[in-house]
Amino acid sequence: MLSEYNKYLEYISDELCLEGVSLKELAEELGTPLYVYSASYIRDRLRAYRQAFPEALICYAVKANFNPHIIALAKEGGAGADIVSGGELYASLRVGIEPSKIVYAGVGKTLKELEYAINSDILMFNVESFMELDVLDYIAGKLGKKVRVAIRVNPDVDPKTHPYISTGMKKSKFGVDIKTARKEYDYARKLKNLRVVGIHCHIGSQILDVSPYIEAAQKVVELYYELLKDGFEIEYLDLGGGLGIKYKPEQSNPEPSDLAEAILPVVKGVKAKLILEPGRSVVGNGGILLTQVQFLKDKGHKHFVIVDAGMNDLVRPAMYEAYHHIVPVERKERSYIKTDVVGPICETGDFLALDREIPAVEKGEYLAVLSAGAYGFAMASHYNLRPRACEVLVDKGSYRVIREREDYEYILR
Ligand code: LLP
Repeated sequence: MLSEYNKYLEYISDELCLEGVSLKELAEELGTPLYVYSASYIRDRLRAYRQAFPEALICYAVKANFNPHIIALAKEGGAGADIVSGGELYASLRVGIEPSKIVYAGVGKTLKELEYAINSDILMFNVESFMELDVLDYIAGKLGKKVRVAIRVNPDVDPKTHPYISTGMKKSKFGVDIKTARKEYDYARKLKNLRVVGIHCHIGSQILDVSPYIEAAQKVVELYYELLKDGFEIEYLDLGGGLGIKYKPEQSNPEPSDLAEAILPVVKGVKAKLILEPGRSVVGNGGILLTQVQFLKDKGHKHFVIVDAGMNDLVRPAMYEAYHHIVPVERKERSYIKTDVVGPICETGDFLALDREIPAVEKGEYLAVLSAGAYGFAMASHYNLRPRACEVLVDKGSYRVIREREDYEYILR
């Protein structure tokens, strides 16, 4: 059922529509590959977070989709921003997100980025190492500022997701070991241009079972009380993002309310403000990638549907062997074929689906690749000198281009 991905996605007179806008008409008008996002869907998701966590600060993880019009929807939905680069800070400020709602994580923040963020007076730096504490203190001193920091701790919880997107385990490059985090806290407290105000953790992404969150929250709360006992004034508990979404037809995903049910009892009694950093669960199923069938190729033992979207447009299948559901934009009686759906790039890893049963499609038809709103365009590249796709936002029956298709000159500039 497509509505389980996104209730605004439906066939109307056998044509796939998003918020009532015909995807075939969009593809014909604007060309393919084309990213299409649903504004109502994104608003609904932000509302779901707000209702599940009325007291918390929701910081939309800009990395999932950095289009300014998407960040603006997050802002209108009351969210702040979770950023990981100067670019994401720039985009967030540009759409008017208040600096007092911006948190900044990342293992490799540069001097320039730190300076920019200090001067912007963001809410909190989620610091990931001793050296970063030193550098941050040094720059803050030079700028005559006092900055708020949290230490990003690694609770060593297995989020049961793809290893490339597990971040809270001991062996990962992120954060500091929660068991020894007191060292970083004691060190940070001595630095005179820093004010230690928070604990941060983020255990991974595409998490479909809320139990790892409970475990992580318990460990963080334990640390919180230890720090209080030691005289720290912890004002923020930032539990990161990571809630998973439905990619496969048989999957179902936890809702923000399920996450609330899991973690609110654990943080009950904690005086600090809760922060969450959802990305994928806000925009993932709000977007699809439209692509056109270029050729069909039958090698006897193997069948290929060759489309005009490649790994440069959507790298998740190539990078994580991620599953993205694919449906034809036109609904009609068809047989099924077993096929690879592949792009035009000069790599064997350039596929959108492998050995997949899909309705038999014809040359020239449009296909919708679902669940492409998060880490889709955001991870797109120019590989093979391919211009990045156009992005469109549909909103209650109308649409607007929110990023034009690039041309060759733009890439070569
Ligand atoms: N906070 C921090 C510190 C993060 O590192 C991330 C994601 C998030 C929040 C947002 O997580 P979300 O709610 O979106 O799961 N490219 C991969 C996902 C990488 C996620 C990186 N960090 C993918 O396509 O699956």
